[in-house]
Amino acid sequence: MSSSTMVVSMWVPPLRHPRLLLPLLVLLLAEVAPVHGGYGKPSLLRVGFYKHSCPDAEAIVREVVGQAVGDDQTVTAPLLRLHFHDCFVRGCDASVLLNSTQTNTAEKNAKPNHTLDAFDVIDAIKEKLENKCPRTVSCADILAIAARDAVSLATKVVTKGEWRKDGNLYEVETGRRDGLVSSTKEAAAHLPDSFDGIQKLISRFASKGLGLKDLAVLSGAHALGNSHCPSLEKRLRNFTAQYDTDPTLDAAYGATLRQQCGKPEDNETELAMVPGSSTTFDATYYSLVAEKKGLFHSDEALLSNGATRMLVYGYIRSEKRFFGDFGVSMVNMGRVAVLTGRQGEIRTRCAVVN
Ligand code: HEM
Repeated sequence: MSSSTMVVSMWVPPLRHPRLLLPLLVLLLAEVAPVHGGYGKPSLLRVGFYKHSCPDAEAIVREVVGQAVGDDQTVTAPLLRLHFHDCFVRGCDASVLLNSTQTNTAEKNAKPNHTLDAFDVIDAIKEKLENKCPRTVSCADILAIAARDAVSLATKVVTKGEWRKDGNLYEVETGRRDGLVSSTKEAAAHLPDSFDGIQKLISRFASKGLGLKDLAVLSGAHALGNSHCPSLEKRLRNFTAQYDTDPTLDAAYGATLRQQCGKPEDNETELAMVPGSSTTFDATYYSLVAEKKGLFHSDEALLSNGATRMLVYGYIRSEKRFFGDFGVSMVNMGRVAVLTGRQGEIRTRCAVVN
């Protein structure tokens, strides 16, 4: 449990020592002060939220994610991406998992979400958790824990057996509740676009209470996984009236990508984010960005702002710093506009409201 959210019972000195009262109050307030959610709202998230209500919750998630990764290493990327796409639309409330209904088109059906995957892993986790602790662990928390486990399992220091503690890249806060609403229009409006420039990316992240450092370090998630041709097509042909191809893309790499993406609408071809290492979570993504070989315009945009550019070069120099900062920013992202307490519900199936 994080000390920032722990409610402490402590000895209170008798009032005949009034000088002790002020420092005591300060200490008490610091202990019970809640962590901050997105938009500056306080939230009730904490590490170990299910410690008493479902002590095996995190172990169950880890077990299922571990099995899935054992069967197919490429599953880590979509698990990480699901949490991001959840948090950027209506906050981290599992709205991304809801199915469309006859009267509502859900986030899942929005264009940027067409290539989301690994929903089956989340459903398998939920089924196990409902058997063990019915109506206790939210789907939003499952997404957060599964993302943490996926990225930890993909981290090369973990696979080399060098990672500290139990192989977790960071400790994940829990206590989120599930939302009741999911809208395709909101997903289209809030999710960053691969053709976004730096100002647009900064303002999109700022609107979620996230800063430049969060943007630079969370973009490092593109160390994992694949893309499809439509996500970079505009970079390859008819980029602008002035440039046929995106000048922020290395010309030779652009030619290779153009060959791979013969048909602009090709949704089958998979393009590795980091060729040769797209199942390993490391800092090589930043070296690619520095060489103008990031897949997206939004990846290369990190070089066009002084602060984000410094971070790119800093992470090339120190992978350890990248891992540390990544954990901090994942926790920040996991706090965006969360539902807690009596808000929302705990879904029994992640794809439908109760
Ligand atoms: C900064 C703005 C971002 C943009 C514009 C962006 C855009 C994209 C796009 C276009 C794809 C490929 C979709 C496809 O063609 O299949 C993708 C994949 C991916 N994104 Fe991002 N993304 C961003 C940030 C993030 C963040 C913050 C995370 C996680 C923390 C993330 C995790 C991933 C992962 C892991 C994949 C690979 C998925 C797979 O292999 O299934 N992205 N992203």
